[in-house]
Amino acid sequence: MKLGIPKELTPEESRVALVPSHVPGLLKKGYEVLVEKDAGTVAGYKDETYEDKGAKIVDSFDELVKEADIILAVRAGKAASNGKDMANTLREGQIVIAQMEPYGKDAAFDAFLDRKVSAFSMELIPRTTRAQSMDVLSSMANLAGYKSALIGANQSPRMFPMMMTAAGTITPANVFVLGVGVAGLQAIATAKRLGAVVSAYDIRSEVKEQVESLGAKFVEFDLESGEGEGGYAKEMDDDFYKRQREMMLDELSEKDVVITTANIPGKKAPTLITKAMVEAMPEGSVIVDLAAERGGNCELSEAGKTVKKHGVTIVGPRNVAASLPFNASQLYSKNITTFLNNLFNKEEATINFEDDIVVATALTHQGALVSEKVKAIIGGDQS
Ligand code: NAI
Repeated sequence: MKLGIPKELTPEESRVALVPSHVPGLLKKGYEVLVEKDAGTVAGYKDETYEDKGAKIVDSFDELVKEADIILAVRAGKAASNGKDMANTLREGQIVIAQMEPYGKDAAFDAFLDRKVSAFSMELIPRTTRAQSMDVLSSMANLAGYKSALIGANQSPRMFPMMMTAAGTITPANVFVLGVGVAGLQAIATAKRLGAVVSAYDIRSEVKEQVESLGAKFVEFDLESGEGEGGYAKEMDDDFYKRQREMMLDELSEKDVVITTANIPGKKAPTLITKAMVEAMPEGSVIVDLAAERGGNCELSEAGKTVKKHGVTIVGPRNVAASLPFNASQLYSKNITTFLNNLFNKEEATINFEDDIVVATALTHQGALVSEKVKAIIGGDQS
């Protein structure tokens, strides 16, 4: 079977789905590896390096799609800004494995169905021990958490560490991390390494221990814990969010940098910081809203922009992991090749729909929407 690695269609996407070091393992398994010209250049992986490892470079996306049986991409479908073109180029029975923002149906989604493409959405990898090495959300969130602390440090007029100098003592910055999943934990660890005094809060009280193990303080509010399925948070009602914001107001008034990462899978991110709360924050403080793309944890954040409002700098970065394309591609490539190695039945080369990871990740197959999770969220019969 032939694997096709496209140069990503989304203009701002700097990652590549497969790095050269993973090519030999795939060749050994009997795959041919085709890589579109310049697919990895921006991420730091040259065409010659792919060729040295045994891949074949092809000149165009159309040629790649024509030849390949399986497309491995970073983004496809809805997630690719001109994804409609990609989906419409695919042919019946072709397999696409990529991130595809599965929770909203669009033209690309329709094209997957019309063209009877077997689409596997990497965002749907289940949170199980066996699937950990395929978990794209975790590997990208880890990088985003690291970068969010650096963005906060860069935007803040204060430095993070305490410093005793002949010219006086500088007190450390106070950093508050809201939402302590994978990204939040890495944001805490990075801010601590830079010397900040770090505190954190999550709706799931079970993370208290993890926060403390990193040397940060867990802030507790008199609110019920919001553990949902699979280690995620569950969506709470408006009254809960209102009380949460009231309790957080005091906390925010003492912080120099606030990093927010709170998410509910498949839903708009919860609003944790309102305009009134921003107004109460110290002049010169910074909010880094990692949920900006999903509606934002701060009412005033704008996805893809850095804005200054009421004296507070609010950063709403998009696709943060892609700002570290070399490492992000490395981790993504490991995730996707591990997934691929688990996709087929060992003897016949047929998709193993007995496997729980394959079932959880399948979005469309033979012209039908097959993901139960996505059906439950977008509703209705989409086949
Ligand atoms: P996420 O990106 O969906 O959410 C980030 C964080 O925001 C979560 O910790 C969530 O509890 C928190 N949050 C949501 N609403 C909030 C609110 N109103 N106020 C404060 N915080 C709020 O989550 P992520 O980072 O993808 O993973 C969450 C958890 O899933 C991990 O901490 C871990 O326990 C589990 N997990 C398990 C894995 C495995 O077993 N293979 C792999 C990855 C994560």
